[in-house]
Amino acid sequence: MNDVLAYIRQEAEKLFPEAVKLRRDFHRHPELGFKEVRTAKVIADYLRALNLEVAEGVGKTGVVAILNGDHPGKTVALRADMDALPIQEETGLDFASENPGVMHACGHDGHTAMLLLVAKLLSSMKSKLKGRVKFIFQPAEELSHGGATLMCQEGVVDDVDAIFGLHIWPTLDTGYIGVLSGPMMASADYGYVTIKGKAGHGSQPHKAVDACVIAAQSIMALQTVVSRQIDVLEPAVISVGHISGGTAPNVIADEVKFSFTVRTLSKETREKVPKLVERTIKGITESAGASYEFNYDYCLPPVINDDKAVDVVEEVGKQLLGEDKVIKLSKPVMGSEDFSFFQEKVPGAYFFLGGKNEEKGIVPLAHNSLYNFDEDAMLTGISMMASIAYKFLS
Ligand code: NI
Repeated sequence: MNDVLAYIRQEAEKLFPEAVKLRRDFHRHPELGFKEVRTAKVIADYLRALNLEVAEGVGKTGVVAILNGDHPGKTVALRADMDALPIQEETGLDFASENPGVMHACGHDGHTAMLLLVAKLLSSMKSKLKGRVKFIFQPAEELSHGGATLMCQEGVVDDVDAIFGLHIWPTLDTGYIGVLSGPMMASADYGYVTIKGKAGHGSQPHKAVDACVIAAQSIMALQTVVSRQIDVLEPAVISVGHISGGTAPNVIADEVKFSFTVRTLSKETREKVPKLVERTIKGITESAGASYEFNYDYCLPPVINDDKAVDVVEEVGKQLLGEDKVIKLSKPVMGSEDFSFFQEKVPGAYFFLGGKNEEKGIVPLAHNSLYNFDEDAMLTGISMMASIAYKFLS
């Protein structure tokens, strides 16, 4: 391990108890997306005490801070998400949520605590830093239209050369990281359809236009959009999760609504799916003499990791943690993450940080009322993020 990484590792160990303290404080006081007021204040106060340039109210409740190294160079951004979930905590931990119905059940408390300590650690090595580190504390990751898109609109990464982010990962053991070049997480979008027919008596279908039958045909036909019209080597999922319409068994329904989610791993497929879906629905409704309304909500692009940025993560991981601790994921995850908005602007890498520890009985279930992660993961996370920033700027 080179001297600087050894220094970072050693400092991270010293700072670790403070990370635990901060994490537990955030855990005790969780706040939902765009309501992270207390969280943002704790963050901003902490960063100001480090003498960083701090901006509050970025992307509504986000915080951005800049650390200037003593030497000129590039700008690297490190991002943590801050928000909690609308879940009633049932862990029984002594630092459990004091905010009824709200819980850090995805580890964002840990992400935030780690990034604060990374800011502290890197502040102690300004004389070794070339360029700038931008610390991005992003609100509302859990919302379908969340904080990353607003921060991007406000130009947060316009002056950034690369961005890195992580997520404590429930199925990976503490001490390990997982990463993948190219597509790593899916896009997530929603479609809303209303089929408009003509009401009538159940005994006289020829005098009506049956929206139930047309909706049923449309939903079945959507099953073939992926299997017949998308390249078999391009992952895509269309799942209809909601349908409603009609009033009584003997009344032909004049209107049926259904909605669906679409996941893809490329921008091209993401653009293609809604067009194919609408064409299918249009054809079926027209042939039946009905009409339709189609609304499509583009929520989150896919997380597509930049090869060079991933190289930095892997190199640092191998030196810092050991070759065997850096896991190349065998396949992408069809979950989504709004870190992807930053990656649409600048090259970046997102990686998973192991947070499971069976020996300690910590087997996290994300977005669950019993969620917890192994806090030792934060030692790995702090050293990784600080080393990545240093390495990228060197
Ligand atoms: Ni999360």
